[in-house]
Amino acid sequence: MHAAGNADVSECLKVVVGVAGGIAAYKAAHVVRGFKELGHDVRVVPTESALNFVGAATFEALSGNPVSTTVFDAVDEVQHVRVGQEADLVVVVPATADFMARAAHGRADDLLTATLLVATCPVVLAPAMHTEMWNHPATRDNVAILRRHGTIVLDPAHGRLTGKDTGPGRLPEPEQIVSLALAAVENPRHFRRDFEGVRFMITAGGTREAIDPVRFIGNHSSGRQGFALAEMAAQRGAQVTVVAGHTDQLPTPLGANVVKVDSTLEMAKAAHEHSKLADVCIFAAAVADFRPASTAGAKMKKGVADDALSNIQLVENPDILATTVERRKAGEIPATTTMVGFAAETGDETTTPLELAKQKIVRKGCDLLMCNDVSGGQTFGATDNVGWLLSLDGEQWDVPRGSKFSVAGSILDAVSELRQEPQPAE
Ligand code: CTP
Repeated sequence: MHAAGNADVSECLKVVVGVAGGIAAYKAAHVVRGFKELGHDVRVVPTESALNFVGAATFEALSGNPVSTTVFDAVDEVQHVRVGQEADLVVVVPATADFMARAAHGRADDLLTATLLVATCPVVLAPAMHTEMWNHPATRDNVAILRRHGTIVLDPAHGRLTGKDTGPGRLPEPEQIVSLALAAVENPRHFRRDFEGVRFMITAGGTREAIDPVRFIGNHSSGRQGFALAEMAAQRGAQVTVVAGHTDQLPTPLGANVVKVDSTLEMAKAAHEHSKLADVCIFAAAVADFRPASTAGAKMKKGVADDALSNIQLVENPDILATTVERRKAGEIPATTTMVGFAAETGDETTTPLELAKQKIVRKGCDLLMCNDVSGGQTFGATDNVGWLLSLDGEQWDVPRGSKFSVAGSILDAVSELRQEPQPAE
């Protein structure tokens, strides 16, 4: 199974931000800033019509580099090939229907399309347009052609468009575009469309167990790894439902349906419902193992309820992953449903995190287990991750250090391979 190393994106990359002529062009300014803040060198290449929305001066000031639209600027430097040849990444924000039509057919009538034709680095298009345009057969065909040529065309977000309409066609949030585009540099193969129509249920974030209306037992989970899995699976063509507990202020995972929950019992109920309809279940949530035996209806006051507050009785929560595996064994869930768990381990004086994870996969009975070493506060809230992937039949792979999107890509590669192996007889 896959365990290849990924490219390092912590070094300064040469990023070309292309901007096509759509109302979302103003968000390209935030994308430029996002790459600059991470230390990358950004060159903005707008189309002529993009400059009707945002002026060249804005892009020059934000990127610190000159802006040109035509192949007739800096002809002595052969700019129309140099910009694409030197790039480590090309991102087009927004990619309009017209721009994708030109790019799909290999046109080179401005500097941006010429740059795309020359670039051998990952090329990521972030489309934005009205739903009717996105759904039009001409656009569908152009997207299919671009993907066949190896261009990464992100699925647009679903939401409010220009005017009163809502639907698919909205530009993803700038920070999502930056993260996904860098993940494409880390490993472009993580964006292949191998989960077209495959249904995923992913638990993410931390649960909260109420003590009273103002207090709870919780944990440090940010939800980043679960959301990254949801976004990467959706970008590979999957239909994704995320059962999300508490997360940091992360944007809604692009392309996923999110079911918000609070406590473990709520998460268990939602996961139970959605796992019945899923082909792949991933349990990335940090679930509280215990909850208070009772929840006070009113705030427990210091000086009045000291005894109850200092002796909170706990009862065990259901193990959502283990019970879902049991339901698969009992035939309530198809035997072909793939189950993936996580193990965040610190290890102790006698046992390493990896040894504990090996015991855990047997105990839980899931097909794959992603193990992280979280000693010293590593992983929680961080934007990168590293660890090992274990399979129930005893295989083990190193998952190289990378962004949580890159780790998600490695996990999904393993899921994809497992699903191609002959399935157990029912
Ligand atoms: N998990 C779950 N429901 C629970 C506890 C854990 O679904 N009540 C899932 C997690 O989402 C994760 C896996 O089980 O995929 C392992 O979680 P972890 O907290 O590491 O394991 P525990 O079973 O709680 O074991 P321990 O606390 O002994 O490490």
